[in-house]
Amino acid sequence: MIIKNFSHLKGEITVPGDKSISHRSIMLGSLAKGTTEVTGFLQGADCLSSISCFHKMGISIENDANTNTVKIHGKGLRGLESPFGILDVGNSGTTTRLMSGILAAQPFSCIIDGDASIRKRPMARIMTPLSQMGAKFESLENIHCAPFKITGGNLKGIDYNTPVASAQIKSAILLAGLYADGPTSVTEPYLSRNHTELMLSSFGADIKTEGTTATVLPAEELQAQKIEVPGDISSAAYFIAAGLLTPNSEITIKNVGINPTRDGIITVCKDMGANITLSNIREASGEPVADITVSTSSLHGCVIEGDLIPKLIDEIPIIAIMAAFASGTTIIRDAAELKVKESNRIDVMVDHLTAMGVDIEGTEDGMIIRGGKDVYGTVIDSKMDHRIAMSFAIAGGIAIGATEIMDADVVNISYPNFFSDLEKLSK
Ligand code: S3P
Repeated sequence: MIIKNFSHLKGEITVPGDKSISHRSIMLGSLAKGTTEVTGFLQGADCLSSISCFHKMGISIENDANTNTVKIHGKGLRGLESPFGILDVGNSGTTTRLMSGILAAQPFSCIIDGDASIRKRPMARIMTPLSQMGAKFESLENIHCAPFKITGGNLKGIDYNTPVASAQIKSAILLAGLYADGPTSVTEPYLSRNHTELMLSSFGADIKTEGTTATVLPAEELQAQKIEVPGDISSAAYFIAAGLLTPNSEITIKNVGINPTRDGIITVCKDMGANITLSNIREASGEPVADITVSTSSLHGCVIEGDLIPKLIDEIPIIAIMAAFASGTTIIRDAAELKVKESNRIDVMVDHLTAMGVDIEGTEDGMIIRGGKDVYGTVIDSKMDHRIAMSFAIAGGIAIGATEIMDADVVNISYPNFFSDLEKLSK
């Protein structure tokens, strides 16, 4: 995909549904009694992996990709069937980890496998707590990686202190906790996204949170719900950055989820001096939603660290692009998790931005970007990481000269119409 320079970006756009909420709607819908109806579902490859895994476990799921409406005919907490063959999670870490929490309690064994990236991602982080609860794991190739076999057990409730702020770890444990013999608590160093807690509560589970601790009680039954999935702030982030960095631009992104555990990008934009406003703030299925308007701004560097990191973990690649075009220095720290995402996002950002002429230095837990110098287009390997492809598409539209993104189709993971939406705004 060749990216030409944007002369201006103007107009309104609706980004696809939130990836995290879409995954959870399939999982909780499958475990509930009755039919869960989801609107605004993300038709990205990752969420389709969740559908196909639960379909393989005997759940009937009707997905209308034209209207983004999904009906899940849940069979109750004990209604899953032993799948025939492996559960293929594709590229999806969320499917792998959250589904493992559910599988930890099922009366059968099954094998989870995925693509080359999934096979490298760390799974000890869920294997350890779920084993403590009573599940059994067997790595079939590399230790603590996919492919692995999981055998469900009679689970006991645990009190778990996770060293990493990760909604995937937290959610796996809480989902297993639905089946445990007593309360299950997870405490994390900083609060990660809380969509699982919010959705579990709306499905009728007994779940409480205090600070960075979430506690779930064993459940008898979950009740099917209607879920309206808001637009994904992680997808909106590319257009937020594009609107701020491109001359003569103003973009409104409608219906974006602004859950406070996900809105770090807005905080950073404000810190960097962006023209950004939120309007029409409302609620959809218990999640706050707003329209976000951005216009051309001169940005300056900032420091991003600590409890802000989990609130923008997936936006760090596009924030690094903003920092490259901003004046002054941006420091990102406490973000070692970037190394174990779909690619090693510290190394990839440093290599690619260096190739574009940016002064950037990788650190153990982040990066230092000295922005404001000329940035040049080049050939960018997406490394089969959707967020790298989209971040450099935006960088390429603003840099001097053309940029080519290799394996740009990987945007299908979370945003199948990304390039056509970008084109609409540049008309
Ligand atoms: C997700 C949590 C995050 C995020 C991922 C989706 C989720 O991962 O990076 O894209 O839906 O729970 P971690 O919680 O492991 O940081």
